[in-house]
Amino acid sequence: TTTPAQAALSTIPPDIRCAQDYERLAQQFMVLPHYEYVAGGCGRDITVAANLNAFALWAIYPRLLRDVTAGHTRLTLGQQTFHHPVFMAPVAFQQLAHPAGEIDTARAAQAMQSCMVSSTLSSVRMEDVATVANNGGSPRWFQLYFQPQQNDTLDLINRAANTGYSAIVVTLDASIQAASLRAQRAGFRMPPGCVAANLRDHSAPASITLSPGESRVFQGIMRDAPTWKDLEWLMTQTSLPVWVKGVLHPDDARALQNMGVAGIIVSNHGGRSLDGAPASLDALPAIRAAVGSSFPLLLDSGIRSGSDIFKALALGADAVLIGRLQMYALSVAGALGVAHMIKLLCEELEICMSLAGCATLKEINRGALVRCGASA
Ligand code: FNR
Repeated sequence: TTTPAQAALSTIPPDIRCAQDYERLAQQFMVLPHYEYVAGGCGRDITVAANLNAFALWAIYPRLLRDVTAGHTRLTLGQQTFHHPVFMAPVAFQQLAHPAGEIDTARAAQAMQSCMVSSTLSSVRMEDVATVANNGGSPRWFQLYFQPQQNDTLDLINRAANTGYSAIVVTLDASIQAASLRAQRAGFRMPPGCVAANLRDHSAPASITLSPGESRVFQGIMRDAPTWKDLEWLMTQTSLPVWVKGVLHPDDARALQNMGVAGIIVSNHGGRSLDGAPASLDALPAIRAAVGSSFPLLLDSGIRSGSDIFKALALGADAVLIGRLQMYALSVAGALGVAHMIKLLCEELEICMSLAGCATLKEINRGALVRCGASA
């Protein structure tokens, strides 16, 4: 007889051997337009490719004879502690991958003690995500997109605080929701049932009328885009730590640090916003240098394996966020798939650390890497 746990386990396809296998398999589990929406970047996918290449350009030195038997992957960021540095990036509309959507991701994150960052554009209300992930596990954070109406922005951050989200991550690199050419070419349309559930009670955005000579971009879709003043305002409206996501320039990083943000997420939105932006990994060392060695810094964009995570930590990140692999694993096997994907990434990282002679995350530094083609 099989136990429910065994029956559930049997839903993970046996040919998943590493976290990235979920990427390959997802193509059989999602309809093509949905897969293209998730996989694609924007424009000509130059930044999507740059993100992946950036990791391939670094190699990791094996180090010999070091005792790593007391090894662990714990870390502290501000007042919060985490069992491992593998966080779930904010990813919108997860019901595109699985009917349970964000509920299943939250269950997986909780089971695997991974910090989940819940998107403003979640297809499940943040209150419902909170009910499944409220007892134990890792901290849960809320990702904010500024809304055209200040009251609606306030509504989001107050609801997040009231339902136990312990930080606000404000994403600032996507004031324009750039459409993915791959998604458009595949005929992607948001299915009728899949909506931004958190925004359901908000007023509909005002329609924009442009005067002759006004730009559809500058005076049109960018009209309500946030500026430094809006971020200052936001920081007076919440007592939660505020992180900023989407930073690539060291001057922006320094300015944000001076404003008192809790931490920064080095990210190019997985290549989904400014096509031609540098790879996050390439931008990381200058940002680490700009903010100093102890300022909390996360990275995402292009992470597909534990050795990618190791490289990001070696170049200055404290932890990483996983975007697309989350959706791929969710599509293949729901909560179990996401939990399994996190477990695989953690194990891949631990193996990498062990062979590189690093017993803790703090021991992973620039000296652990060598640029491909160069020698020590
Ligand atoms: C995203 N991302 C994103 N970011 C954000 O701040 N709010 C959001 O709602 C979304 N939505 C979203 C949807 C989908 C389908 C994807 C693939 C990505 C960006 C995400 O948080 C993260 O920055 C990237 O996904 C990281 O790159 P990788 O891991 O996908 O390569």
